[in-house]
Amino acid sequence: MLEVRDLHAYYGKSHILQGVDLAVGEREIVSILGRNGVGRSTTLKAIMGDVPPQGAIAFKGKPIAGLKSYQIAQIGIGYVPENRDIFGTLTVEQNLLLGVKAGRNATRWSMEDTYRLFPVLHERRDAAAGVLSGGEQQMLTICRSLMGDPDLIMIDEPTEGLAPQVVERIAELLRNIAERGISILLVEQKLTIALRISHRLYVMGHGRMVFEGSPQDFTANDAVRQTWLEV
Ligand SMILES: Nc1ncnc2c1ncn2[C@@H]1O[C@H](COP(=O)(O)OP(=O)(O)OP(=O)(O)O)[C@@H](O)[C@H]1O
Ligand SMILES: [Mg+2]
Repeated sequence: MLEVRDLHAYYGKSHILQGVDLAVGEREIVSILGRNGVGRSTTLKAIMGDVPPQGAIAFKGKPIAGLKSYQIAQIGIGYVPENRDIFGTLTVEQNLLLGVKAGRNATRWSMEDTYRLFPVLHERRDAAAGVLSGGEQQMLTICRSLMGDPDLIMIDEPTEGLAPQVVERIAELLRNIAERGISILLVEQKLTIALRISHRLYVMGHGRMVFEGSPQDFTANDAVRQTWLEV
């Protein structure tokens, strides 16, 4: 589905991504773990074309490095960045409708799916999205992205700053998404969630991947955890 090879990216003269290799298969949930500042968000931005990528990025077998982010969205990659960028003055329902992409019929995820899974969004569908809680806004941004019928969705730290119960709802949503046949590339800080829902994990060190394996492989590898995750 997604294959990234020897990806480099710069902010000015700072060489941030220094040869990232990663892959996400069909129906897979893959997480990227790592300490703050190692380049996890930049990896997603480079795939999306929001920072200029150098290296090979293939999606559904076709090269996408160099395309504009709207073109990448159009061919089926959804992206939910760190800052939940909802449109606060628009209603919940208007936000969801903004996710619909011309030429892509959302067959796997509908407005009804969103409302069934999150009745609170249905109740408040005519309210300004800006008054929703942080957790509700997070659900809304993910669901908005799903309205564009992505084949792969990249989500950056969806559970950050949310209460444990809300984190559980997000985890449930992610599983639900994967069950519909949508692949997920997740940047997640909470180890318990990442270990529970991921099929595969990467640990990122300074600008490149330093570990790849199953949650079981990861759990068995104290050295990786101590060297690259614990502070
Ligand atoms: N717009 C930018 N301009 C210059 N440097 C940046 C910019 N965005 C990020 N950086 C730097 O690039 C490095 C990687 O940032 P990135 O956002 O990818 O980190 P991260 O792994 O997502 O961690 P976190 O989300 O905790 O910040 C950091 O050193 C950061 O300071
Ligand atoms: Mg980040």
